[in-house]
Amino acid sequence: MSQEELEIRSLRGWEELEACVELQLQTWGAGDVVPASMLLAAQKSGAVLAGAFDAGALVGAVFGLPAVHDQRIGHWSHMLAVRESHRDRKIGLRLKAFQRQTLLRTGVRRASWTFDPLEARNAHFNLNRLGAQVDAYECNLYGAGGANILHRGIGTDRFVVQWQLDSERVRRALAGQAPAWSPDAESASIVNAAVEADGAIVPTRCDAAPAHLVRVEIPRDIQDLKRHLPAAAARWRQVTRAAFRDYLGRGFVVERFRRDAATQRCFYLLRQRTSR
Ligand SMILES: CC(C)(COP(=O)(O)OP(=O)(O)OC[C@H]1O[C@@H](n2cnc3c(N)ncnc32)[C@H](O)[C@@H]1OP(=O)(O)O)[C@@H](O)C(=O)NCCC(=O)NCCS
Repeated sequence: MSQEELEIRSLRGWEELEACVELQLQTWGAGDVVPASMLLAAQKSGAVLAGAFDAGALVGAVFGLPAVHDQRIGHWSHMLAVRESHRDRKIGLRLKAFQRQTLLRTGVRRASWTFDPLEARNAHFNLNRLGAQVDAYECNLYGAGGANILHRGIGTDRFVVQWQLDSERVRRALAGQAPAWSPDAESASIVNAAVEADGAIVPTRCDAAPAHLVRVEIPRDIQDLKRHLPAAAARWRQVTRAAFRDYLGRGFVVERFRRDAATQRCFYLLRQRTSR
């Protein structure tokens, strides 16, 4: 499949809605799926529901609902999924770009959604590739997560992010020009110091460092950890939850995310907001 062969467009007709349900089932399992009838109702009510088609087959989809943010019409993006066989080929990025263009055409300037702070891939995708900004940290937003194959075992803590569709930050990120990892980031304290245990890197505790710039580490592959070392995965949740709640509560903002090319270790960079 070349990039040219892939078609990105709004979903049409009942069969494509059913294909979207199937994609959700494959991605998240049976516990939490938006049914075709609700996708249809949402489409009729101003939702964005678009798919990526490879030789006519649905291989990715994005779905979001009209919303009201600060008394303005906005967008709540509920779901983005790309079939496993088609990941890391920028299909997710193209779906989000399509969503953005559709929203900008209708005068919407802001979209929001959530992602799990422990998912390194989603952190890179949302913060670096899309230029979204973290607004808040919510504990177990979708419940304890028992029914869902991606969420099971560690609950459903989420970052809530906002995407300022016509901002310079977003334009630059989409053009592949996200701001570089600043030189002072390299020496920023890691607040959840981790140690090697049973072949995995596990955080020991969360220290409140007296600094304006700190790093919070996350595992490189939380799903793999959940499968093979569930206690370590739960520990990561516990420790990062404490760190994010503490630092965001004290006015820090999540500035960047980085996966170190040499060590594969993954860090968020948090900076103390300067008072205006
Ligand atoms: C998130 C998802 C939609 C991305 O789709 P995609 O088509 O693979 O996305 P893209 O190819 O545009 O971008 C993926 C990026 O993540 C990077 N990536 C992949 N695995 C990674 C990892 N373990 N750690 C960090 N980054 C990773 C890729 O290299 C790529 O970045 P690059 O463009 O800088 O190379 C897809 O992985 C998916 O369906 N995941 C399951 C559902 C889900 O989590 N949805 C919620 C999204 S918020």
